[in-house]
Amino acid sequence: MAEHPAYPVGLRLTGRRVVVLGGGQVAQRRLPALIAAGADIRLVSPEATPSVEAMADAGEIAWEQRPYADGDLADAWYALIATSDTDANAAASAEAERHRVWCVRSDDADQATAWTPATGHSEGVTVAVLTTSARDRDPRHTAAIRDAVVEGLRDGTLVAPHQRTRTAGVALVGGGPGDPDLITVRGRRLLAEADVVIADRLGPRDLLAELPPHVEVIDAAKIPYGRFMAQEAINNALIEHAKQGKAVVRLKGGDPFVFGRGMEEAQALAEAGIPCTVVPGISSSISVPGAAGIPVTHRGVAHEFTVVSGHVAPDDERSLVDWPSLARLTGTLVILMGVDKIGRIAETLVAHGKSPQTPVALVQEGTTAAQRRVDATLATVAETVVAQEVRPPAVIVVGEVVGVGVGPHGAA
Ligand SMILES: C[S@@+](CC[C@H](N)C(=O)[O-])C[C@H]1O[C@@H](n2cnc3c(N)ncnc32)[C@H](O)[C@@H]1O
Repeated sequence: MAEHPAYPVGLRLTGRRVVVLGGGQVAQRRLPALIAAGADIRLVSPEATPSVEAMADAGEIAWEQRPYADGDLADAWYALIATSDTDANAAASAEAERHRVWCVRSDDADQATAWTPATGHSEGVTVAVLTTSARDRDPRHTAAIRDAVVEGLRDGTLVAPHQRTRTAGVALVGGGPGDPDLITVRGRRLLAEADVVIADRLGPRDLLAELPPHVEVIDAAKIPYGRFMAQEAINNALIEHAKQGKAVVRLKGGDPFVFGRGMEEAQALAEAGIPCTVVPGISSSISVPGAAGIPVTHRGVAHEFTVVSGHVAPDDERSLVDWPSLARLTGTLVILMGVDKIGRIAETLVAHGKSPQTPVALVQEGTTAAQRRVDATLATVAETVVAQEVRPPAVIVVGEVVGVGVGPHGAA
């Protein structure tokens, strides 16, 4: 038979019978997509992997615990033949041919009447990749092409110009702690679609370098604020650019709502009637300790962690932090914006009962090439910060978790 290319098609399987023969790894990999397609799935197999069994237990598939028997495919629209018995597979695909049921075969693609493409999804589109002929079939190649296309659509490096759907208004995007790889997929896509990006000093600066030349990048710290407060000037800049119909991204360090003033910006935009999307980010409060090998919780060591701003000293009347209560907690204390005030903070914690020997770690510029970790105790941290010239941005971790971990600083 002449070799023609396969004809690609999308099967609409809702409520339609799909028969799966064999409950092993192949079925385990393929079943979730069939379930998601709403198919009425009957699995015929004497055994099944624990995951497949769980799908049967959950009622997502009907499992007949027996070997394949002639007639099993009679009322199927589609079949997946994947038993470990080649003769049974051959008999089943002959039956499928008889009943004109399209079938895929895990053991012999040449004998199959259908092939499963490598698939992925992005923004309402399914990407399905097939090789043109059985001779060229190379699942790794098709999977790699699928990954490249899906990844490109997600991060915006692959944009279909006519269908470019941009999010109107302003996106408040959490950029993560600094490493450009630690922004979310959604954040990266919105960044790639932006006309204007208003960025903080903290966050993934490297991502800005990747933006095409037409994108206007504004340093939030440099927005002139004259008779306004700096934050008001930023809010006004967001509103003005969005009113011009531009796609605006407000790129922030970490998560927009962790000491990020994200909600102030969202409120200002709401008042101005500008649509606003919030994209969460990986907060430095957890990720920066983690990057330095410190888990903020650890079984048997810390069952809680508290994230505190140290930007005002404990005795400052503007402080909203109950430092005496924090001194009584047994868990981990994570202090942001605390480098300048750490001496007074440590004194207060000790004065209210924390041991002066409590371990402290300062992680400066975490997740970036310049990351450094400096260890101390509550008794020594003030002088250590000076002696080691620790500078913001740094996350300060106070608690026994500092000694947990692997590597030069950890106990293990
Ligand atoms: C204004 S707060 C913003 C926090 C941010 N929204 C978040 O979720 O990570 C800034 C503080 O976050 C901490 N920080 C942010 N990024 C950091 C990094 N890469 N390394 C160390 N500390 C960081 C520092 O304590 C810094 O002073």
